[in-house]
Amino acid sequence: MAVAPVGDRRPGAGAAAPPGAAPPTPGSGGGAGAFLDQILQSKSELFRGSREVLRDSYVPPRLPHREEEIRKLAEILGPSLRGDLPSNLLVYGKIGTGKTAVVAQVRSDIERRASANGRLGFLSVNCANLDTSYSLLQTIGNSFAGSDAERIPTGWSLDRVQAAMRRLMEARHGTTVLILDEIDRLVARSGDNVLYTLSQLNTELDGARLSLVGISNDLKFTNQLDARVRSRLNEEKIVFQPYNALELQDILRDRAKEAFNDDVVDPGVVERCAAYAALENGDARRALALLRLSAEMAERDHAKRITPDHVVKAKNRLEQDIVVECCRTLPPHCKVLLYAILQLSERRRNGVLTGEVYDSYRRLAERLGLPPLHARSISNYVSELETLGLVRATIVSRGRGGRTREILVDVPISETVPALEEDPLLAPVARPRNRGQLLLTNFDNPSRAGLL
Ligand SMILES: Nc1ncnc2c1ncn2[C@@H]1O[C@H](COP(=O)(O)OP(=O)(O)OP(=O)(O)O)[C@@H](O)[C@H]1O
Ligand SMILES: [Mg+2]
Repeated sequence: MAVAPVGDRRPGAGAAAPPGAAPPTPGSGGGAGAFLDQILQSKSELFRGSREVLRDSYVPPRLPHREEEIRKLAEILGPSLRGDLPSNLLVYGKIGTGKTAVVAQVRSDIERRASANGRLGFLSVNCANLDTSYSLLQTIGNSFAGSDAERIPTGWSLDRVQAAMRRLMEARHGTTVLILDEIDRLVARSGDNVLYTLSQLNTELDGARLSLVGISNDLKFTNQLDARVRSRLNEEKIVFQPYNALELQDILRDRAKEAFNDDVVDPGVVERCAAYAALENGDARRALALLRLSAEMAERDHAKRITPDHVVKAKNRLEQDIVVECCRTLPPHCKVLLYAILQLSERRRNGVLTGEVYDSYRRLAERLGLPPLHARSISNYVSELETLGLVRATIVSRGRGGRTREILVDVPISETVPALEEDPLLAPVARPRNRGQLLLTNFDNPSRAGLL
């Protein structure tokens, strides 16, 4: 049985010693050495082998409940095996519905059947990792470069990169299927010019041809495209529906069988992970993350089996992780604003009003040495927090035709506040641990709370 690589272990989970394992010997080298050696030598009682099987990067041999999508995709891309040019295609579906996995599987099935010296090639690009259309054209061009000397250097003009890419493609001959994953991110960042260029390449090329497969979880992204680009890309379309709870159960059972030893997953575990994820838009990635975290919670408890209680713990932890990650990426003033809202809301049953939120935000910003933004910008940030699902804002009337917004927090305050306080930006105004309640009551008068 393989021991999972150290790099695969999350902090905490990896630190769980197996029951009966000897404690690290004091003085045996000092530091974390003995502890780490113990982790290396310990075998998981739960995992059959590598826990990679439950990670996003793992491509399973079977994709249950995607048979129809696989068939349609094979029908559209399959003719490339006979030398025909496949139609351009857009693949849509909400997050975690298996779009990337299905396209990757059909691609590798076709590649396995393509003759070794054939003229068919696939290129997959995740547009989320590219900043500009320039880098996309450069990446495409360089994938055809036979040697370093042929590669397109950075620094050329866009026109020159485009011409070089065309030349390199032409020199290779044959058909290329270009898979643009998260294509909506490309359009949001750099518009649709590059898609216009790519979608009309076939009219300019002699010996080479290009077919485009765009993958997006934004069902409306084509509205942002020029009508010609839209119709060229949309020659074929496949929509992936979210998984329901029963479908997610099948997906999880397959993975659980591969990942865990026999009889370590209690009845109800898979069902609960699937039910939670079905409520969250039928996202298979979420379901798998829950199963993986449940196993880690069980290891942390030194348990021999994963129980439905571990799933509940995993769900709480996952929600916290998602919120924390989301907060971490907010722009500075937006973080201060959220912190102000959370602090005000801690003491309320109802929501807080925009006026008091602004006052509180302004005081915090001043204490942090940030010039406070105008109320209108803060109002836009409230809308942004609402879009992210962190708060909800409703209009309330305040007599005499006056209207204001009432803001309600949509995240667990007790966990989000400490997460925000760990941010170096907010650290100077963070409340010392264990004194939270005392200082909280005095928040509106920081000098009384001893904070100034
Ligand atoms: N039918 C399935 N069977 C087994 N695993 C699946 C299935 N569908 C999705 N998965 C797994 O769920 C995870 C998410 O799938 P995938 O990355 O393909 O989703 P996606 O639709 O591309 O999501 P996003 O829009 O966020 O990119 C992956 O680990 C994938 O292997
Ligand atoms: Mg994807």
